[in-house]
Amino acid sequence: MEFTSKRYDFRNKDADYASLAEELTGLLAGEQDLVANAANTAALLFDALPDINWAGFYFLRARKGLDGELVVGPFQGKPACVRIPLGKGVCGTAAATRKTVVVRDVHEFPGHIACDAASRSEIVVPLIKGDTLMGVLDIDSPLLARFDDADRRGIERLAAIFVAGSAGPLSVDE
Ligand code: SME
Repeated sequence: MEFTSKRYDFRNKDADYASLAEELTGLLAGEQDLVANAANTAALLFDALPDINWAGFYFLRARKGLDGELVVGPFQGKPACVRIPLGKGVCGTAAATRKTVVVRDVHEFPGHIACDAASRSEIVVPLIKGDTLMGVLDIDSPLLARFDDADRRGIERLAAIFVAGSAGPLSVDE
């Protein structure tokens, strides 16, 4: 398979996110595997979105007798912290509240977990299938205030395509 991503300048964000949504739908068509789809989604976003330095997934893993926690999944960018408790950092906050979190300046977000010192702003979208929290999609940027409301709408749409096209959460850790 040869994949050539379209080039976007995001001058018209709604139009470019709509086109990217079509690309993602095509990329995931016919495949439900969670890790495979997460890997290709992260690769597409990292390639297509300008001014980002990390794009990828944290999945919710339950542990017997303990609260669930987020564990890093497929991503593009620098190596990242592996486990994030629910409620901690931007990812854990988005997971616990089940709401998208857009952080204008990570230095002003209490409890932000720095994986790449270059990151200045961030968006985290919770992934919810039916009533079940699967995890989060996390995108970081080296620019201050990189993500506006059009980015939030567009990235939430991409996350919904990933959720609809991918199998449910991973198994329980022993
Ligand atoms: N900044 C995130 C941690 C994950 S990395 O950005 C890849 C957070 O505060 O949850």
